[in-house]
Amino acid sequence: MVSPTKDVVNSASKLINPLKSPFSPLSVVSNEMETLTKNITKLIGSGHPILNRISGYYFEQEGKKVRPLLVLLLSKALTEIPLNKRTRITIDMHDIPSDPVYKNNKSLPDNTKSASIFDNPVSNFSSLNILHGIQSITSPLTKGSEPLEKSIKELDITNGILPKQRRLAEIVEMIHTASLLHDDVIDFSDQRRGRPSGNFQFSNKMAVLAGDFLLGRSVVAISRLRNSEVIELISNCIANLVEGEFMQLKNTVIDREQFTLMTGNKEKQLPKPTGKELDIGHDFRLPTIEESTNQNGKNFQHDILIKLAFDHYLHKTYLKTASLISKSLRSTAILGGCDEATIENCYQFGKNLGICFQLVDDLLDYTQDSKALGKPANNDLKLGLATAPVLFAWKMNPQLGSLIENVHKYDTVEMTRALALEYRDKALKNLHDALPKSKARDALETLTMSIMTRKK
Ligand code: FPP
Ligand code: MG
Repeated sequence: MVSPTKDVVNSASKLINPLKSPFSPLSVVSNEMETLTKNITKLIGSGHPILNRISGYYFEQEGKKVRPLLVLLLSKALTEIPLNKRTRITIDMHDIPSDPVYKNNKSLPDNTKSASIFDNPVSNFSSLNILHGIQSITSPLTKGSEPLEKSIKELDITNGILPKQRRLAEIVEMIHTASLLHDDVIDFSDQRRGRPSGNFQFSNKMAVLAGDFLLGRSVVAISRLRNSEVIELISNCIANLVEGEFMQLKNTVIDREQFTLMTGNKEKQLPKPTGKELDIGHDFRLPTIEESTNQNGKNFQHDILIKLAFDHYLHKTYLKTASLISKSLRSTAILGGCDEATIENCYQFGKNLGICFQLVDDLLDYTQDSKALGKPANNDLKLGLATAPVLFAWKMNPQLGSLIENVHKYDTVEMTRALALEYRDKALKNLHDALPKSKARDALETLTMSIMTRKK
């Protein structure tokens, strides 16, 4: 960890040549982004109207869609690497049909922005093999046995983005959305994207099940990519998301769970977890003043504790946020047939950008109000989460005192911003190491820069 002084910020900024005329990164892949939600809608259709309603709920409202945007921009940027340097390419055009599970279902509406994505749910009941998700791999969509080289060249010339990479962008957004449905239950959130959160609107149980369903459909789509390395990477992301969330859980959450059940007009007591098993594996706990000082009132291993706390926090941040971004960008490069060095740089780019993204998320929790965020503000502190602004406050004042006071007193939001800048600059270096200059790379650069100035 580097000391977050103004000098660090200044020298970090000098590393980057600001783009002369910033443009919207979205414009480079606008066609692909436009069809993203529509394609996801097809991937998540089921024969159950209420399930459709809930699993489609977060897709109805425009989110930031940073993850798919990154996958699509990187896919495009990788096409600038000559084909003879992308020798690992194993693409085949036949196993990514535009709609792998529900291609026969004509009842799904195109307009995904309607209040309910699935306006006509009853007619969504499908023939058995579709409901069971069974479709032969050698489907009529097989393109035949065109020479591989020719197919790749054609794809590169037409839109530059491979069908599997487009599908990957959709999968990543589905996994992210599943995790948000679950996260809002865990965080007792009542708002997301400026309207009632899934749990608030439909109940905890339904939100959890809808998240599970999205995950299930994501796994179907991942397996249809027919690339074992990518399947392993993306499956690991799902595990990492849970690991990250677990690291963040605290004992206090237990007290806020419900332990009574109404059956008829009778209240039934549910067994309360003993909490005995919870002494390991949950969030890093700030020590009490007694624990962190010795008998003379002097600092006891303060530096070591701070280092441990930051290591824990950054590890959690990787698992919770950066893993999905970095592993999906690694997968993008694998699907693009890149060499090992490029794949690794794409991965590192995603990792550094992901950590930067979450650091900014954590500072916005202290600086923005709920209206600006479209979700509850100051929620981390309420939940007792030790994110960077609080850890810096503890670093500055071992006696702790009022944490929120110390956050303002020492301007630890600014320190968090400086730490985020370090990760942003590492990400920019990875980007330059991985890719030749192109419009798509400029777009990735602009996107990376914009993370620091985002307001929600
Ligand atoms: C948002 O964090 C949450 C995440 C980035 C991941 C949540 C992961 C899980 C709930 C594990 C289950 C995973 C799956 C795949 C179902 P935040 O609370 O800091 O952000 P917020 O302010 O937007 O809620
Ligand atoms: Mg949350």
